[in-house]
Amino acid sequence: MMSTADTVAFDVVDGIAWVRFNRPEKRNCMSPTLNRRMMEVLDELEFREDVGVLVLSGEGTAWSAGMDLKEYFRETEAKGLGATRQAQRESYGWWRRLRWYQKPTIAMVNGWCFGGGYGPLYSCDLAIAAEEAKFGLSEINWGILPGGGATKVVVDLIPMRDAMYHAMTGEAIDGKKAAEWRLVNEAVPLAQLKDRVTEIAKVLLEKNPVALKATKDAVRRVKEMTYDNAEDFLVRAQEAANSFDNNGRKEGIRQFIDEKSYKPGLGAYKRG
Ligand code: COA
Repeated sequence: MMSTADTVAFDVVDGIAWVRFNRPEKRNCMSPTLNRRMMEVLDELEFREDVGVLVLSGEGTAWSAGMDLKEYFRETEAKGLGATRQAQRESYGWWRRLRWYQKPTIAMVNGWCFGGGYGPLYSCDLAIAAEEAKFGLSEINWGILPGGGATKVVVDLIPMRDAMYHAMTGEAIDGKKAAEWRLVNEAVPLAQLKDRVTEIAKVLLEKNPVALKATKDAVRRVKEMTYDNAEDFLVRAQEAANSFDNNGRKEGIRQFIDEKSYKPGLGAYKRG
């Protein structure tokens, strides 16, 4: 019997927190135990000084095979409505936490990604997949609708016809197709996946962290706003960010205007 702590693995190297679903023998499907542990790990890492970017990946051949059909569905249903609602709160809870996480996040999709896996996939700001990875809304194949937000995820990210086909047929697609559909940013051969993700993480590590958090939240928020509401929100959001970081943007302006040491259109200013 695996202990709670074992269901999620993580280490922090050079500013990057590598967090991994760690039930490879169960294809990293999400049990209530794993969901509770993931929330603890996210808590522990969120405000650590030595963490600038969080990468979520999976041990073994899977990223995550979705919800655990046995422990998340069958066993909690058997305990009644209260247990079902609790299990939902615990999984949706950490996905929501991740959607608004303090640090930028990257889903590194190394293998199988099914059903409920689309929740954390969407929660991550960026997603890079192995070409060999397989994605599917498999719910229809075992007789339910794509719940836990999965339907919302595909309708938000991919065109309607593709979303409908994906949800109704339950056919899996590979990483290349997922990139073509924009379910992920890009796909690279599995052998290059970690290098590519590290490269992107390093770009993020060079940016002003206050501005990064404000930016990622703004992108998610404005999607559902009118233009005028967004314009107003962005003014307020920047002013709020200023109160956390008074020197960053001044330094950014100084290095461009006075020092002429970089061009914001082409790269980031040097942080002290
Ligand atoms: N829930 C519960 N158990 C799961 C699981 C899930 N979502 N996904 C995999 N497992 C378990 C299997 O039951 C098996 O357990 P066992 O070793 O005790 O028999 C183990 O993980 C390995 O799975 P297996 O099917 O043998 O691996 P595979 O590499 O041949 O196939 C998948 C991988 C992902 C294609 C296949 O496991 C699968 O279809 N899983 C379900 C995916 C799904 O529909 N998820 C959506 C849920 S919302």
